[in-house]
Amino acid sequence: AADRLIDRFGRVHRSLRISVIDRCNIRCFYCMPEHVDNFLPRVDLLSFDEIVRVVGLLASAGVSKIRLTGGEPLLRPNLDALIARIAAVSGVDEIALTTNGILLPKFATSLKAAGLQRLNISLDTLNEATFQRISRRSGVDRVIAGIDHAIDLGFEQIRLNALAIRGLTETEIMPLADFARRRQLTLRFIEYMPLDADRAWQDGDVLSGEAIRKRIEAEMGPLRETGRDDPAQPAIDYKFADGSGRVGFINPVSRPFCNACDRLRLTAEGGLRNCLFSDRNWDLRPLLRSAASDADLINLITESVAAKEAGHLISRPGFEQPQRAMYQIGG
Ligand code: GTP
Ligand code: 5AD
Ligand code: SF4
Repeated sequence: AADRLIDRFGRVHRSLRISVIDRCNIRCFYCMPEHVDNFLPRVDLLSFDEIVRVVGLLASAGVSKIRLTGGEPLLRPNLDALIARIAAVSGVDEIALTTNGILLPKFATSLKAAGLQRLNISLDTLNEATFQRISRRSGVDRVIAGIDHAIDLGFEQIRLNALAIRGLTETEIMPLADFARRRQLTLRFIEYMPLDADRAWQDGDVLSGEAIRKRIEAEMGPLRETGRDDPAQPAIDYKFADGSGRVGFINPVSRPFCNACDRLRLTAEGGLRNCLFSDRNWDLRPLLRSAASDADLINLITESVAAKEAGHLISRPGFEQPQRAMYQIGG
């Protein structure tokens, strides 16, 4: 029955973020190390059959929103076929994808045909030198081409994600805001969280959403809060004074939104995780690859939900960064 995924704090889980691969074609320092020697071998990735089985079980327990992430999800072969299968699962009413955009010119048409409705594309900078400092690869023009290609195809919704890093991306705030406004896209600034593989994150690297908002208001006039369309969404969105375009802020460090969290995560190798900052993992793969029943799987899933903590403890004394980096969990 629906609404079975309720934790100790009364939070109902309706959203599943599925990492379909841990690989990526760039190497953003906030997510991945420069060199990775332990990417998952193909056999360790959940197959489409396995993913669809998990989605079906979760959908029957109340999950209705699916987001595909990675690594870079477009590196997973035949992703369109997976999207079509997830779209056909009863109870799933929303499928979204978070991508770095580079491969959109190649795949966006087939993804859209398969039923993908919503796209979030990462764009931290428009400046090539800054792009290279962040991603350790070249080609911000490839990302921009990917964004414009997706716009031309007419997706229902495209949002841009800009990770904000103190001392690095202040100069990008206004250019990104202009870029998004000209294209009528919502831009979200995201606070840098301690999930980098190099474990180099420091408090002082966080450029707060409030600081960015003040900067934009100083240049462009007051922003008007539009509230959260969905109370569980991480972003708080605003409209520009002249009504054209929207900008939002995802402030997990300065203003945690864990109290309304409705998210579960499935890692590329089939681990269920109840929080980005949990070090515990509920491994579904051994069950998926044995004769285990749906009831056995549901038991493990509800165990994971029951063990969910109130929230992350970033900025509290004694906080320890989780063992896994972002690319090993899913964005
Ligand atoms: P919308 O459906 O467009 O609102 O998407 P979203 O903001 O939930 O998804 P997206 O993948 O664009 O997420 C943007 C960023 O928000 C992620 O990359 C994370 O940095 C952050 N984020 C998303 N979910 C969580 C979460 O559960 N906890 C924390 N701390 N951060 C999250
Ligand atoms: N902190 C916050 N967001 C992160 N992302 C990746 N690493 C981090 C981090 N350390 C976000 C990126 C991208 C999405 C896939 O994950 O901004 O938009
Ligand atoms: Fe790749 Fe996304 Fe991580 Fe950047 S943030 S390295 S694009 S997975």
